[in-house]
Amino acid sequence: MSPSRHYLQFLDFDLQEYLYLFERTRWIKDRFKRYERYWPLQDRTLVMIFEKNSTRTRLSFEAGMQQLGGAAIFLSTRDSQLGRGEPVEDAAQVISRMSDIVMIRTFEQEILERFARNSRVPVINGLTNEYHPCQILADIFTYIEHRGSIEGKTVAWIGDSNNVCNTWLQAATVFGFNVHVSTPPGYEVEAERAGVYDDRFYESFADPMDAVRGADLVTTDVWTSMGFEAENDERLRDFQDWQVDAEMMRAAAPEALFMHCLPAHRGEEVAAEVIDGPHSVVWEEAENRLHTQKALLEFLVIGKQNS
Ligand code: CP
Ligand code: NVA
Repeated sequence: MSPSRHYLQFLDFDLQEYLYLFERTRWIKDRFKRYERYWPLQDRTLVMIFEKNSTRTRLSFEAGMQQLGGAAIFLSTRDSQLGRGEPVEDAAQVISRMSDIVMIRTFEQEILERFARNSRVPVINGLTNEYHPCQILADIFTYIEHRGSIEGKTVAWIGDSNNVCNTWLQAATVFGFNVHVSTPPGYEVEAERAGVYDDRFYESFADPMDAVRGADLVTTDVWTSMGFEAENDERLRDFQDWQVDAEMMRAAAPEALFMHCLPAHRGEEVAAEVIDGPHSVVWEEAENRLHTQKALLEFLVIGKQNS
């Protein structure tokens, strides 16, 4: 049995593989929009393990797997033995003998890596404290759909240097774009935690207005990520000046897009007039989770296909 390919962080695939995935995404999305059946994963099973809440990730993986002819099984910490202390290595041995692919949303990246090391089947990161690669897969596909190549463009990240930010930084090194990051003091990017060792692709700005100036894409995320709820009150105070508002969007390029992985808090990290305004592509971005992940599932379970 050859070792499985996993998708644990954005750097696990190279540029050619991403370009292939985007080509497959377009093909799969077009067929889906024409209501044409495409069942390459018939009789295959995806197991989804959630240690944190989710709407989009669960729905897009579950619906996506069904639309590819397969089945998806949902497990959560609350109702499985994982919540009662079964070692993640043992869970991986068992779950991967009963399924063809596994998606996990958990806390530390290390938990995901331990699972993957003991899995007989591919493992996908459905969000950890450190990374959210499936989100940026959809985001870059969405950017390309609207504006063409992202190479050489500028992405402004405003707010917390969290899992989504880290993944943008990794993606910049693969696709060759620049990330302008602005976080409040004390919440700066930690290069090692972000898994980014090449600082040519990002620049930090103390003032968020400087980060957005001329940007082709402005993006943000919640001030308090899942697992950090105890810091909520402090973060609400610290992040007040890092709300993406209409003034920031005016400073960006005229054709700039606004993205947010969702769920969003209007009046906190983003003003309602921005997320509900003309630059925003957040609904297309959310929908593209479905299409890009179907290409990812196909690739990891049955390998490259001809369009
Ligand atoms: N963006 C995202 O991953 O959403 P969920 O938390 O709803 O899955
Ligand atoms: N940074 C957020 C993303 C949610 C999709 C979190 O980890 O909660």
